[in-house]
Amino acid sequence: MFKKYNFANVGSTNDIAKKLLETSNTVMVSTELQTKGKGRNGKKWIGEKAQNIYVSFGLKTEKGESGEEITKYQMLGSLAVLKSLSEIAPKVKFTLKYPNDIIAENEFLKGKISGVLCEHEFMGMLCFTTIIGIGINVNQEKFDEIPDNTPVSLKILKVESEREVILQKLEENIVELLKEKRSAIVEMWKSELKILGKNVTVKGSDGEWNVREILPDGRLKVFKNEETRIIDNGDSIRYS
Ligand code: BTN
Repeated sequence: MFKKYNFANVGSTNDIAKKLLETSNTVMVSTELQTKGKGRNGKKWIGEKAQNIYVSFGLKTEKGESGEEITKYQMLGSLAVLKSLSEIAPKVKFTLKYPNDIIAENEFLKGKISGVLCEHEFMGMLCFTTIIGIGINVNQEKFDEIPDNTPVSLKILKVESEREVILQKLEENIVELLKEKRSAIVEMWKSELKILGKNVTVKGSDGEWNVREILPDGRLKVFKNEETRIIDNGDSIRYS
């Protein structure tokens, strides 16, 4: 389904996918190295050459999609990673951490193995272009320390794997999930997230908040005493 491109090195596969969508309706852009890899919330996504997966799936829609509809893409991206990695490494436990981090855990180690960054282009109120950017740590063995989010890779968790095999599974799972309605994606994401009823701490705010509701667009409604607040994917939260 996707028109495939692989590069030796690029700034960010998300940016290349956006450019290539000017002449195609669907693209899958992977690279050996990103020199300007982007993470969520303006952070950088840094990784060694030829060790990890850096890939972006780009999609164009003719009719345009609403702001609420497109929130499904980051859910879909993280669900596709979760499924692909679980198939490849059945002995490792993979879980979803709000909003879209994939956490991997064996008996000795636990950490972030993958992240998803979606970007969109709007015309007026409607979105016509979506990029689902995915980074998966595969064979890299050493990472710079990241507070609260120790990176791990499949190799660190003692799983031998080939990036091409993971990429192919990822594409298959993305294609399958794209056939689902938004409501089904949201339900799958909610059930993997397992965050309802949990206490979370929110960066920049004191105390613990209880998650009482997941709103239709994926934001969280949290409570502390009489106070309510809405958490979105720009917030940084901790919970176990
Ligand atoms: C996160 O912060 O967790 C999201 C990281 C997303 C990284 C991927 S790597 C491929 C794609 N291109 C980018 O520049 N970022 C995403």
